[in-house]
Amino acid sequence: MNPLAARTLTVNPARHAARAAAMGTLALLLAACEHPPMDSVQNGYRGLGMVQVSDPRLGSPTDNSIPPALPRAPDVPGGPLAGDTFKNVQVLKDVPVAEFARLMATMTTWVAPQQGCNYCHAAADLASDALYTKVVARRMLEMTRHINADWHSHVGDTGVTCYSCHRGHNVPQYVWFTDPGPANASPYAGNLAGQNQPAPSVRLAALPNDPFTAYLGGSKAITVIDRSALRPDADKGASIKDAEQTYGLMMHITGALGVNCTFCHNSRSFFDWDQSTPQRVTAWYGIRMVRDLNQAYLTPLTGKFPPERLGPHGDGPKLNCATCHQGVHKPLNGVSMLPDYPELAGRH
Ligand code: HEC
Ligand code: HEC
Ligand code: HEC
Ligand code: HEC
Repeated sequence: MNPLAARTLTVNPARHAARAAAMGTLALLLAACEHPPMDSVQNGYRGLGMVQVSDPRLGSPTDNSIPPALPRAPDVPGGPLAGDTFKNVQVLKDVPVAEFARLMATMTTWVAPQQGCNYCHAAADLASDALYTKVVARRMLEMTRHINADWHSHVGDTGVTCYSCHRGHNVPQYVWFTDPGPANASPYAGNLAGQNQPAPSVRLAALPNDPFTAYLGGSKAITVIDRSALRPDADKGASIKDAEQTYGLMMHITGALGVNCTFCHNSRSFFDWDQSTPQRVTAWYGIRMVRDLNQAYLTPLTGKFPPERLGPHGDGPKLNCATCHQGVHKPLNGVSMLPDYPELAGRH
């Protein structure tokens, strides 16, 4: 006879009832803890530890809803274009005049809702480039088109608009400057490199405080793990400090996207692409895109910004993963605003 079945048959009914009552009380006690369920998503085969657990109570640090769009101006074939109509339009030349006016009104709500048109325009003359904000905004128009047209590998068809970064603020909420953190009090004690100096840039870990200047401003190699068992002596490879700095950048990425390391990596082999998720590939392109935007757009604008916009070391504001992502793995939860603003899409 099956021993399990035998045991069930010989259960004492009184003991069974007592046990059931005890279990019921325990369930009630647990319910009283008011622990709402965590969300969990399997991001790889079971047993690989690639589950993503998130706490719905924490939510996202920013509002990711999309502002309503103004109605689009009807297309008039052969109608006047902004480039032919206005005096000093250099980027939006191909945009019909009515649509141009709608975009100016929309850009105002995205970037300068309190100040209005005069945040970028010298009131007397809309064609004047007297204000730095207009000069920067023109470059931003080019940058937005460049992201949408040339970084499809990262932003896909979803793309970005000014709102992706600005969200109604003149200065996006997440920008960075070169900031190695507090210097060591004693010049003889060497470089602390972030030891015991928890910084928000690396989510309060005791890691090098500035992962941005080297990896997202410059193009320093992020890979640190040795592929070979026996390395030639001449090739020193990455140091422990390099590895800590890579870790710091990874900490930024997880915070910016609101995910764990296992969103991209299988933690038994951080370097192996075959064991990584497709999102890691998207992230790889994202890193190259951010470098390109900082190197080709933001850094060259440094001289245009007034002193109060510059960082403690005199460098200009730059972007990182949080500038667009703001705590979610797809900015604005993956909703595309481009169908309403095709003039920002650029051309593939
Ligand atoms: C965030 C900055 C910004 C705001 C706010 C803004 N504009 Fe502009 N505006 C620009 C830029 C940049 C250009 C030049 C675009 C180009 O070169 O393609 C421009 C050009 C213009 C022109 C063409 C002027 C000419 O003769 O060359 C007009 C008209 C205009 N804007 C109207 C407006 C109005 C009206 C508002 C408010 C509803 C407004 N703009 C708000 C940045 C802005
Ligand atoms: C990928 C992110 C991103 C996008 C997209 C973007 N911007 Fe920006 N913008 C920035 C960053 C970063 C700065 C630098 C912040 C600062 O000025 O201190 C900036 C600065 C500006 C400034 C100067 C503000 C100031 O007060 O110093 C203006 C104006 C501006 N952007 C307009 C626009 C417009 C208009 C668009 C859309 C055509 C746009 N931006 C798209 C990231 C972005
Ligand atoms: C959104 C995706 C993503 C997340 C999340 C992420 N990483 Fe990475 N990680 C990458 C990419 C992409 C690279 C390769 C970067 C490159 O070479 O440009 C990388 C590289 C690394 C490397 C270097 C591997 C090598 O080849 O030497 C380590 C170590 C690493 N990550 C650790 C972590 C840790 C620890 C976490 C969590 C704190 C984490 N990563 C979170 C995408 C991610
Ligand atoms: C200019 C804005 C912008 C910046 C900056 C940016 N991203 Fe993204 N990212 C996007 C958009 C838009 C998408 C959604 C693409 C889509 O819908 O296919 C996305 C998607 C992703 C995804 C895929 C998420 C998923 O659920 O499949 C990853 C991973 C990612 N980004 C990582 C990064 C990392 C890492 C950085 C910084 C190095 C970064 N991104 C910087 C705009 C940006």
